Amino acid sequence: MQRFAVHPLSKYRRAPPAFTEPRELLSFSYDNKRTQHMDNRELKYYHPPTLDPPPSLFHNFSQQIRRDPSVNEHIDGLLTALLSLPSHPASDFVMYRGMLTRLFVTPYCLRDAWSMNATRIGQTIYIEDHVTDETIAQRGGSSEMHEKLMYSGYRFETLCVVPETPATDEMLQQRLDAVVDTHCEYCSVFETQLGSHRIVSGAEVDCIDGPKPDHHPSRQYRELKTAHILDTPRKRESFDRFKLLKFWAQSFIAGIPQVTVGYRDADGVLRQVEDIRTQDMPRRVRGQPRMWDPNVCLNFADQVLSYIKTHMRMEGPETQYRITYDPQTQEIGIVSIDPSEPSFLTPDFLASLG
Ligand code: A3P
Ligand code: MG
Ligand code: MG
Repeated sequence: MQRFAVHPLSKYRRAPPAFTEPRELLSFSYDNKRTQHMDNRELKYYHPPTLDPPPSLFHNFSQQIRRDPSVNEHIDGLLTALLSLPSHPASDFVMYRGMLTRLFVTPYCLRDAWSMNATRIGQTIYIEDHVTDETIAQRGGSSEMHEKLMYSGYRFETLCVVPETPATDEMLQQRLDAVVDTHCEYCSVFETQLGSHRIVSGAEVDCIDGPKPDHHPSRQYRELKTAHILDTPRKRESFDRFKLLKFWAQSFIAGIPQVTVGYRDADGVLRQVEDIRTQDMPRRVRGQPRMWDPNVCLNFADQVLSYIKTHMRMEGPETQYRITYDPQTQEIGIVSIDPSEPSFLTPDFLASLG
């Protein structure tokens, strides 16, 4: 099948396709047993972390309760959420935000291979991450330091949130020694449109500023991130070039306006906290050499989605495709996969489509 060349990027440096503000359809939670509930029980409230004394992001590392990385949940949670709606929203694509983020950043992360599975039912294309033994091994962590850094991201999240609003002194005290449990999650399911593509997606949301409003809750959501302190020009450049791009894409796609970055030193101690507005991120890198352009991300993702639509002609759960990006050729390709592979859509979901 015809492949999609990432280059030349110059053709994406033009006015971007319209992107509609994401509208939340519903939200759900996973509890500490990874049981899904169609409510906000795991939604957390933002309260700035205390830096006096500076907390260690490696604290309680050995206590953490981690999800089994070898369990592939596919997009079951998102499908279950859609089943709970009175009717299926009309859309061209259904996928978690992570897959969209990947498409957005590909023009600037040319060395990062990726692979997704896709299937078309009627007009709608469902996409999931293609999880391989290699990706499971990566998730499991490779070295002690790598594991600690992964942990520090979650630990920072627990240091920034409280279970109810407003925060009490007791809650602020309790979170200092809280045990990180990566089973727990709060997810927002939303619809948006990129160019002509109507997209239904779901995103894990770290926390919210104040009580959740009935209208436009995503305007109150906040993403929490960690990074090494930017103490050299090289670190600063790498942060702006790669991390800020990923922060921007991830938050922009879900309509999340604020990112709080916690900067840790080499010993994992939290030294500084910075709030960066999602909409200010592109301005921070604009006009600088080797940086990214949000218009390129939007145009590129729009074109890739069109390419996927054009080349996934076959319809029905028996036909599944694999979409891969190959860093060697810097091309995206689509192939159909072994028809004996069971559909990644759940039997319940398929039944609901009639
Ligand atoms: P950081 O992003 O601060 O490093 P998220 O920020 O997307 O809510 O994810 C929370 C944390 O989970 C991350 O914190 C990181 O520690 C870990 N994490 C998420 N995705 C990861 C990935 N693909 N590889 C390694 N760690 C990941
Ligand atoms: Mg998170
Ligand atoms: Mg986060």
